[in-house]
Amino acid sequence: MGNLSIPPLTELRKRRSAKWRTFPDDVLPLPVAEMDFPLAEPVAEALHEAVDRSDTGYAAPTRELAEAVRNYARRSWGWHIDADGVRTVADVGIGVVEVLRRVVSAGDRVVISPPVYEPFSWWIREVGAHVVEAPLIEGPGGWRLDPDALERAFADHATAYVLCNPHNPMGLVHRREELVALAELADRYGVHVLSDEIHAPLVLPGAEFVPFLSVSEEARRWGFSFLSASKGWNLAGLKAAVVVTADPAPKRYVDRLSPHSLYRTGHLGVLATVAALNDGGPWLADVLEALDHNRRLLADLLGKLLPEVSYRQPQAGFLAWLDFRALGRGDDPSAHLLTAARVALNAGHRYGPSGNGFARLNFGCAPETLTEALTRIAAVS
Ligand SMILES: Cc1ncc(COP(=O)(O)O)c(C=O)c1O
Repeated sequence: MGNLSIPPLTELRKRRSAKWRTFPDDVLPLPVAEMDFPLAEPVAEALHEAVDRSDTGYAAPTRELAEAVRNYARRSWGWHIDADGVRTVADVGIGVVEVLRRVVSAGDRVVISPPVYEPFSWWIREVGAHVVEAPLIEGPGGWRLDPDALERAFADHATAYVLCNPHNPMGLVHRREELVALAELADRYGVHVLSDEIHAPLVLPGAEFVPFLSVSEEARRWGFSFLSASKGWNLAGLKAAVVVTADPAPKRYVDRLSPHSLYRTGHLGVLATVAALNDGGPWLADVLEALDHNRRLLADLLGKLLPEVSYRQPQAGFLAWLDFRALGRGDDPSAHLLTAARVALNAGHRYGPSGNGFARLNFGCAPETLTEALTRIAAVS
């Protein structure tokens, strides 16, 4: 499992984050999207250094974060961005909401592709817009964007589309040609595309992340990309993310964000993100190896213990989308698993109606924890 040594559960339970304080101690918590790996050493050093100096004030108006993002994007994905098009925000959720506030008016229609990360619909409602669904389709080759559903939704007076790239909850990595087609539709119907790329650093072996803004002129004209180290390096509590634009038209909207948005960003988050992007590559490589191992372990465990539950190995991230429908546990199998197996998963129906009968499992944990969770689930299924 690479060079990462995950602390035992007794140690993990001393953490005070949402994953560890939402459920009683006899529950294995596999919902909240936090990973159990110890922090990357360069990140821990940057944070210790700041604390030792009592350097806990506001984030500074420097270009360090923008340059770290630019260099990381070039090294990792061959994506060339201009640091002037990188704007700091407190987190991806706030970035998306603040950009939506500027591109949509109350009552406008904003499209999503469920099953998708549950907060998308909350973010859209938060700005007074209506959620319109263009669901993913599932074929023999897996889930994918549905170009016909997208076109129907865009043609029906949509103002914006929130893309999940890679797509949570099933860890789907969209292919270049799909993104090119999406950008063409956006251009044809005048739809802003907000591409949430938070899981991009976690693309697993065998898949290639394609940044939306890298695919075409149309994508750059209509697109905004949201990036953060919070999933890749487990920094969600530190609050730092960026919005990237690569064309003057979307940049004009970002330029209208509050001048105070920098001061709402975590200073420690900025320091940790710069350390992660600049020096956290070796740690991330170990994490990807561990996640690659766990996604296969999960397939083996399901095959042996729960063959009725179907699952496609994700191409990115540490989240697995499990189909419990053959077990006849209704729309929310996670409710029974929490009570009977003392394993917490996310309820699939919260990701849209096509998530009924599914549950989302976080495998960013030790293989022993994953094995214990599946053993408990099998015992009550
Ligand atoms: C797709 C997606 N977007 C955004 C977030 C939350 O990001 P942030 O904490 O930066 O708002 C998550 C967290 O799991 C996520 O999966």
